[in-house]
Parts: sequence; C-alpha cells; structure tokens
Amino acid sequence: MIKVPAAVERNHNPKIVSIIGARPQFIKASVVTAALRVAGINDILVHTGQHYDENMSEVFFEEMGIPQPQYNLGVGSGTHAQQTAASLIGIENVLLKEKPVRVLVYGDTNATLAGALAAAKLNIPVAHIESGLRSFNRDMPEEINRTVSDVISDLLFCPTETAVKNLVMEGIQTGVHLTGDVMVDSLLHYSAVAKQKSQILNRLELLEHDFLLLTIHRPSNADQIHRIRSILEKLSDLALPIVFPVHPRTRRALTTLSHKTFGSGLRLIDPVGYLDMLLLESRAQLILTDSGGVQKEAYLHRTPCITLRTETEWIETVEDGWNILNYDNIEDLPTQIAEFEIPDRWLPHYGDGQASKRIAEILSGTATAGVEKE
Ligand code: UD1
Ligand code: UDP
Repeated sequence: MIKVPAAVERNHNPKIVSIIGARPQFIKASVVTAALRVAGINDILVHTGQHYDENMSEVFFEEMGIPQPQYNLGVGSGTHAQQTAASLIGIENVLLKEKPVRVLVYGDTNATLAGALAAAKLNIPVAHIESGLRSFNRDMPEEINRTVSDVISDLLFCPTETAVKNLVMEGIQTGVHLTGDVMVDSLLHYSAVAKQKSQILNRLELLEHDFLLLTIHRPSNADQIHRIRSILEKLSDLALPIVFPVHPRTRRALTTLSHKTFGSGLRLIDPVGYLDMLLLESRAQLILTDSGGVQKEAYLHRTPCITLRTETEWIETVEDGWNILNYDNIEDLPTQIAEFEIPDRWLPHYGDGQASKRIAEILSGTATAGVEKE
C-alpha cells in the first residue's frame, strides 16, 4: 500500500523547469508539455543539446509541435563526465535564474541525471517520469542515471506495476504514482497522424508485413564492430528486406565495415522522424532492436520483437511472448525470426493513454486522491 497526498503543489500557474536532451525525451515531452499547458502549468523547457543533428532533434519539435525550448545548453557529444558536467552547470544557471517550484526529468539519459542532481543540490523538488525501471545491469549508463535520479526525486511517476515494485524493493514508497507510460499517449496520438502522413513505405518500396526493422544504438552493440558485423551477416541470409535507420553512434562503426557485410536486402537509412518510425514499426513483420522505446512500441503495435540484449526493463513484453532476448546467440536469429509464434496474450501493461494527463494533474495539484498507487 503506497499512499501520499495527491495534491503536491497548489500554486496558481506553478513554474516548472523540464529537462530534455535526447531523442526519446522529445517524444515523451511531446505529450507531457501539452498536458502541462492544459493544466495551467508554466513549463520552462530546457534542451541540454545532447542530441543535435536535425534528424535526432529538430524533426521531433517540428513534426510533433513541441514548443521550442526556452534554453538550449548546446552541450553536444563527449564522455559521460563531460556531457553530464556541462549539463549540470548549464541547468544550475537556468534554475538559479528561473527559480522554479519543481524540476521535471524524463527517462534515464545523462540529461536526466544532470537535471535531477542540479535541482536536488539547490533543494528544488524533482519529479521523475519513467521512474522505477531497472535492468539490474550496472554496466549500462542508463541504470546508474535512473537509480540515482529516483533516489533524489520526491515525485516518482511509474509506467508499470513492475516499476512500482522495483522502487518498493529499494525502500522508496513515498511520492510513488502509477501513472502509466507517457509513450503510450504519444503512440496513440501520433499513430493516426502517421497513417495519414507518412510516405516511408512508398519511399522505400516496402510491402506491409514483408520487411524487418532493425535499430542498434546501445554501446554493448554499437561500440563493438564484431557484433554489428555478425548481426548484419546473419540477417543478410534472409530473403526479407531489412530497414535499418542508423543512429549516429552506430554510423561510426558501420563506416569501418566492408560493404560485403551488407546483404542486398539491407536498406541503410538515416534516422527517421517519429511518424515514419511509427509506420515502420506497425507494418514490419518483426523488429530487431536494442532500444528501450522501440521494444515497448513493438509490443504496443503487436509486432513481434527480438531484443539484442541480455536483459530488459520491459519484462512484460517478454513474459507475454512478444519479445525474445538474444544477445549471445546471433547465429540463431534467422530461425528465431522464421519460427516466431505470435502469442494470444496481450495486456495493457503500459497504461491507457492518459499518463501525461495524470502527471499534469498531480503536478498542478488538481489530482483527485486515488490516482496514486494504493
Ligand atoms: C543516448 C542516451 C541513451 C539513449 C539514447 C537515445 C546517455 C548516457 N545515453 O545515447 O540512454 O538510449 O541517447 O538515442 O545519455 N551523435 C551525433 N549526433 C547527435 C547525437 C549524437 O553525431 O545528434 C553521435 C556522437 O558521435 C556521439 C554519439 O553519437 O558521441 C553518442 O551520442 P550520445 O548522446 O553520447 O549517446 P547515445 O548513444 O545517443
Ligand atoms: N525513433 C525514431 N526514429 C528512429 C529511431 C527511433 O523516431 O530512427 C523513436 C522510436 O520510435 C522511439 C524512440 O525514438 O519512440 C526510441 O529512442 P531510442 O531508440 O533512441 O532510445 P531509447 O528508447 O533506447 O532510450
């Protein structure tokens, strides 16, 4: 039983500073910023500048109508310490100037950690969206970022029951709200738009359910050329076209590979906007990915998925049979793809598309008791 007062802030038009910096955070913020506006919250958006290529950043603001950030800290690429430190200093300056009642952070990137830490050190309360997720793999930078952010947050917005349980196991029970996942809100909202507007299938001359979609960007794959090579070699044995929107981290590794590694069905393309991505995900026969967001979206679209990792934070997708983990047995990929059995079971583990509204209501103090986890 987790119970805290729902009405947390009762200011009129409370000022909040929201921190974003990387692709998945733009997608999450698209629906949350809109809900905050409806709830009368004055939301100051800070982009750390961690992702900066047009197709990793601006395209999302344009396509999804996200307000332009009031601040872009321009931190760019670098080591973890360089990126986190530059974000920390930039965010602290903004917080000292804007004096918000709260800081809102999303997910598990270096922007999340920097935002939470800068705020906590200034005694500004922190709310964390996508709180409580755990891979239990401390080799992942994201695991460090999310665990530290949760410890210093006082409002913890959990996407799943599993996330709530993870927090309880760590002794965090106060301020925990099971809101559902804001990525369900964005997927539901933008899928209709994608269906109308996206031309990606025509552009790539793809037939529905007759291609595979591949994304790779985790250091455990992208920074290991031999792994990328063996994944591409194995997939080149298949007759199906494979669409591979290449993340900039992965681009570096691909430039060192011989073109012989690339089978004739492989379509290497630049990262795509969210609308094209939603269409590709929903029309693919199967998705291969190491992305957190993409494996969950595969589940939401009911598209089979193979996750190129040893573990996942989204365990419901595996338990229900829609997602197979495969990191060590790359040679099995063709068989796993050919023999994937579509499960009967599918449950709304990730919420009902109202997560951002719930979060905004809690933040504005208009939430009615009962929204919280009881
Ligand atoms: C980051 C997040 C990761 C998230 C991912 C989403 C951290 C620690 N990692 O990983 O959790 O899943 O974003 O995509 O915060 N680059 C460009 N242009 C860009 C951005 C990056 O060329 O616009 C290149 C740079 O060479 C950079 C590399 O990509 O060094 C990696 O970028 P970085 O932001 O450090 O990490 P991601 O792998 O994107
Ligand atoms: N995405 C996108 N274009 C792409 C690849 C991914 O719009 O070319 C979207 C995808 O639909 C999902 C989010 O980006 O909503 C996932 O981001 P990413 O894989 O970069 O990071 P992760 O979720 O692993 O943190």
